[in-house]
Amino acid sequence: MAAVLKGDPVYIMGRTARESRRLTVQAHAYEPATRRILERAGIQPGMRVLDIGSGAGDVAMLAAGMVGPTGAVVGIDRNATILELARKRVTQAGLDNVEFFASDMRDLPPLGPFDAVIGRLTLMYVADPVEAVRALLHHLKPGGVVAFAEFNLVGDSFATWPSLPLWGRMWNIFKRLPEGTGIELAMGWKLRATLAAAGLTDVRLSLESPLMPASNGMPAFILAEVIRSVLPLVVRCGIATEDEVDIDTLEERLQAEAVPAGAIIKLPELVGAWARAV
Ligand SMILES: C[S@@+](CC[C@H](N)C(=O)[O-])C[C@H]1O[C@@H](n2cnc3c(N)ncnc32)[C@H](O)[C@@H]1O
Repeated sequence: MAAVLKGDPVYIMGRTARESRRLTVQAHAYEPATRRILERAGIQPGMRVLDIGSGAGDVAMLAAGMVGPTGAVVGIDRNATILELARKRVTQAGLDNVEFFASDMRDLPPLGPFDAVIGRLTLMYVADPVEAVRALLHHLKPGGVVAFAEFNLVGDSFATWPSLPLWGRMWNIFKRLPEGTGIELAMGWKLRATLAAAGLTDVRLSLESPLMPASNGMPAFILAEVIRSVLPLVVRCGIATEDEVDIDTLEERLQAEAVPAGAIIKLPELVGAWARAV
């Protein structure tokens, strides 16, 4: 099985324990929005669901709760290491209707057919998302549910009130990552066209941004850890120097700026798109 198909960008985020923790904190922030997308898409008890790019397993576990004991979830990810964490978390949660396989989403073994194919924050990492969705549709029953959720990491998708200079500088660093570095920053905006080009009709859309006070600590942790993950690339591309970022004190400085200001943070927009296969 091909681990990485030709022309794929490199997965730029790191694969450290810290990043795994960032994924689970981030997943917590986006859990309500993701649940609403899956509900509106039609995920129901008894369904057999394929979750692509499962990472630490958060979406697979959410879906497992929704399909219940009469349903099942199969999660796949091309990173076998993070799946070990996902399996551990599933066991800790006492779920016995979820299993994970290491595989590329475009080259899956015959694990289906499935009632639904879902995925969050994963099409943004493949070179050709249309080709990926087309390949996934082969694993779906006729009339099956397709539901994806992806970030907008462009424009004012992320914001603070009041405006906070350090937070603004860090968001701008992320936004200036050049094309071709392994992440489609506008994947949320492109989701509808991607699903339509893969042959799906009547694609429904939603958009949500978690809004929270900086005082709960989650936004500063997420922003600092995202910057940490991409820092080597940021430095290589000449966007900022290590001294300018000072990564080991960044989370603390973000908090020191935001909390006394009573700031509210709007985390990046998550676009949901869903449809039924013909
Ligand atoms: C940002 S994480 C998202 C994890 C999870 N879906 C969530 O929302 O918490 C993206 C995941 O997609 C996986 N991924 C990227 N490209 C993939 C591919 N072509 N096939 C399978 N998994 C892939 C990465 O290994 C990573 O674990």
